[in-house]
Amino acid sequence: MGIPAQPVRLLSEKTRASAVLYEEATRSMPGGVTANIKHFDPYPLFMKSASGAELTDVDGNEYIDYNLCYGALMLGHGHPRVMKAVREQLEQMGTPVFGTPHALEMEMANKLISLYPSVDSIRFTNSGLEATMFALRLARAFSGRHKVAKFEGHYHGGYDQVLISVHARKRKRNTPPEVRADSMGIPKEVQEQTVVLPFNDWETAEPILDRFREELGAVILEPVQGGFIPPKPQFLRNLREYTRRHRIPLIFDEVKTGFRMGLAGAQGRYGIIPDLTALGKVLGGGFPVGAVGGRREIMELTSPVRHGDVLAGDREAKGEEVLFHSGTYNGHPTILSAGWATISVLEESGVYTAVEEAAHRLREGMEEILNRYGFAARTVGDGTIFNLVLGEHPVTEIQDWLRSDLSLRRRLDHLLLEKGIYLKPLSRFSLSTAHNAAEVEETLNRFEAGVKQLKRG
Ligand SMILES: Cc1ncc(COP(=O)(O)O)c(C=O)c1O
Repeated sequence: MGIPAQPVRLLSEKTRASAVLYEEATRSMPGGVTANIKHFDPYPLFMKSASGAELTDVDGNEYIDYNLCYGALMLGHGHPRVMKAVREQLEQMGTPVFGTPHALEMEMANKLISLYPSVDSIRFTNSGLEATMFALRLARAFSGRHKVAKFEGHYHGGYDQVLISVHARKRKRNTPPEVRADSMGIPKEVQEQTVVLPFNDWETAEPILDRFREELGAVILEPVQGGFIPPKPQFLRNLREYTRRHRIPLIFDEVKTGFRMGLAGAQGRYGIIPDLTALGKVLGGGFPVGAVGGRREIMELTSPVRHGDVLAGDREAKGEEVLFHSGTYNGHPTILSAGWATISVLEESGVYTAVEEAAHRLREGMEEILNRYGFAARTVGDGTIFNLVLGEHPVTEIQDWLRSDLSLRRRLDHLLLEKGIYLKPLSRFSLSTAHNAAEVEETLNRFEAGVKQLKRG
């Protein structure tokens, strides 16, 4: 997909300082970035400050932020209660981290147990990636089987087992998705342990499950694909019934949906209870975090009270009988204080309704503007995250998204950046409590200016 020339030229004219920094960054970091997701053409924008729903770049341009650190900032940037909690926590503790157990990790564990129906017991990690990786290890250990089934287009972090078929390729309807590594360096033997299923297409998914079910140690999915394609209710019910019947632990990766689809995530919203849940993003209040929770009998496999492991050295280590889990920063108190403050705000009555209403108003407004200018378009999503689809057809799976006009969308996204709407091109829109009615109206004004320009070609 080529870079759209005119929108890029307009954006480049006002982001010269970003271009200079980027050029410099390419000399010290591969591709000028320290996470590939942060790259886009012609160069990523460098930010210098943020407040509420707004980002300011190094050239002084202001943007209404719909990326929100890939959805993590449910309260927007620099929410006063989060900032205060972190400052106070540092003051009180006299250090960023103890490196020992502390009361807040237990309080947060209890909070998550009370909110997430699937969670009896919990462990913290430092990222969403670590959370899903640990959940898979737990599931495999519990079931005693080793293959993992994941869904086409679903992202669970960039490690070998699940960095497979995240990048979906067009295929005929009702045909099985390809099993394909999304990175160099993934051993064939690891890839062979991953089974890929189509999301929201039970007729195609079930025979694949049937073929591998004796070997499957886990099924993992994003309950809302990419944070914006909602599950068909019957699809999710079928998957739950099937995995229960065949004793395959079902893992909901709620790294995106946790605290976004409500306080209890997608499982609360759709009423389907997995065996294990991975959390991240919003839980960290803007800091890196992850967590895995689930059925007690599964979680207990990792208890050092059963047997020691190689690091829990005061008991006999029996590698085959204990499930290793550790991390220098797990349960980091400063991070949990930001997460705790975030959850306290989200627990106040009416908070989700307000963000969802803002999302609804924005979606309606964008659709109305695009249709008025003669573009076939719709928004897709549920709750506080949605995506914009340019094309005639409804989107219920990733294949529909691939059939939409992605190059027109890319052109629009560059125009929106130039007009002051921040979004990683082709990515979803996430809203926060900072996106109030005024922000939404201003977004729609800028959006209309972008669409007008798109129409002019
Ligand atoms: C659904 C999902 N799972 C896992 C991850 C990995 O999380 P992290 O980037 O914190 O490692 C992400 C990140 O975008 C995600 O969206």
